[in-house]
Parts: sequence; structure tokens; C-alpha cells
Amino acid sequence: MRTVSTAAELRQALPREGVGFVPTMGYLHRGHLALVERARRENPFVVVSIFVNPLQFGPGEDYHRYPRDLARDQALLEAAGVDLLFAPAVEEMYPKGFATKVAVEGPLTALWEGAVRPGHFQGVATVVARLFLLVRPQRAYFGEKDYQQLLVVRKMVQDLGFPLEVVGVPTVREEDGLALSSRNVYLSPETRGKAPVLYRALLAIREAAQGGRGVAEALEAGEGVLAGVPEFRPDYLAVVHPETLLPLSRWVPGARALVAGRFPEVRLIDNLEVYP
Ligand code: PAJ
Repeated sequence: MRTVSTAAELRQALPREGVGFVPTMGYLHRGHLALVERARRENPFVVVSIFVNPLQFGPGEDYHRYPRDLARDQALLEAAGVDLLFAPAVEEMYPKGFATKVAVEGPLTALWEGAVRPGHFQGVATVVARLFLLVRPQRAYFGEKDYQQLLVVRKMVQDLGFPLEVVGVPTVREEDGLALSSRNVYLSPETRGKAPVLYRALLAIREAAQGGRGVAEALEAGEGVLAGVPEFRPDYLAVVHPETLLPLSRWVPGARALVAGRFPEVRLIDNLEVYP
């Protein structure tokens, strides 16, 4: 595996076609590696990027303390059979005077994470658009873990006509259901024990749906689970349409439950398909 840090080196190292691309912010775990493995199976050449994107962090968020370990990440990617790692500095991605922003508008970015983290999806869309233009992949891989992000990227690709396919990959979880996240390293042992409450709330909603309960009742079941862990301060718990992310009052196929909120040391998000 080669590691490059500039756009010029990247251009030299890329083949003309057959590129599968996995953008990340590094501090890799099995969730990231599931994306890489899928890309490895479906493409002759696999590119991974590691870039902690300052544009997608709000003031007071964890940009400066976001976990980083390039040497460890390189070893994991090498073992996973990645061809090329692109790990640019901030000045390479956003040279002095960089002034362009890409913004997907509408409910897809106004609701949920977009409401709690103003500007976040504009930062994501801007960096992903720039990475797509640099890497020119045929396929790009995104986790369902960040379900709203996956939909925002799909919409941007559709609206701007990027010539690539966006592939969504199911969430990888710990044995107790906690979705893998680079931010899980912030969890104290005590909070780590409580963190599966997000997944348990989503499961309660799915079970209520399977048991024939309506959306409102299913949501109450989920809220009941969250209420059992007062250290978790929910930002939202919602049942939404899987494509528009608008709240549902009746079940539709593929209905998704979304949850996010804060423990004292870290903010966590999760989601699950709750109606087949
Ligand atoms: P990051 O949080 O590093 O995640 C990189 C990719 O890994 C995203 O597509 C994310 O959804 C996926 N991922 C994270 N945890 C996962 C899990 N437990 N199971 C499956 N997939 C998982 O998301 C970002 O970085 C950034 O916003 C980025 C897209 C790189 C733009 O800066």
C-alpha cells in the first residue's frame, strides 16, 4: 500500500478506472474495515482517505481532540489489501483562500443531525465532493451507521451528476449492540456499560412494530428504554421514512428509527430499520 498526501501524488498514483473509494476520518475500527472489505471485493483498485475535516465540526465540538493514529491505521489498511491511502493535510484540501461550500438543502439536511449540528452536512458535502473530484472513483462506500449522511451524499451525487455509484454498508456493532465508532474511545468504563441503551431503544421500537403496535406506541416503548438511563440526554428519537427522513405516523416498508444524544463525555448516534 502506498500513502500519499498531495493531490499531485494522488493523480499520478491513480489508475484510469476501477477505483473503489472509502472516505474516513481515521482511527479505524471494524466498521470502517467492513466498508474497505466490500470495496476490495467489488473493485480492482481500492483507495481510502483519512482526513479529519474541520468544516464538518461545529464550534465547541471535538475537532481538536478527535482521535488520530496514522501508523496504526496504515497497518490495518495494508492488512486489508488497500492499494492507496490518501492522507492530506488541511492546507492541501483547503488551500489558503478556499471559499467554496457545497450545500444540500431541504428536510434531508434540516432535520435530525442537521438541526442539532448546524453546518455539519455542508462540511460533509463539501469535503466529499472535493474528495470525489480528486479520487474519481467508480464506487464510493458509506456506512448506514451515519444513515442521514449516506442519504445526503446520495442526493448530492444525484443532483450534481457525479459519475459514480454510492454503496451503503450495514452497521457493524459490538456484541452488546453498541455501534462501532471512533468516538467510543471517549467512553468511561461506566458509560461504556450504559451506551447500548441507544440500540436497545431501537430494538424496542422494532419489537413493538413486529407486535402490531402503531408508530406512536412503538416510539413510547423506545422512549421508555431511554428513560431507564438518565445519564443519556436524547437529542431525538424518531421513526422516519427511509428516503425522505420525514417523521412517520404510520408504518411504511423500510421505516427507520433514528436516535442521538449525549452522555457526559460523548455524543452518540444510531439507527435501525424497524419495519420490513
Ligand atoms: P468516519 O466517522 O470516519 O466514518 C467513515 C465511514 O465509516 C462513514 O461512511 C461511516 O458511516 C462508516 N462507519 C462508521 N462507523 C461504522 C460502523 N459501526 N459500521 C459501518 N460503517 C461505519 O463519516 C465520516 O467519517 C465523515 O463524515 C466522512 C464521510 C469521511 C467525511 O468527512
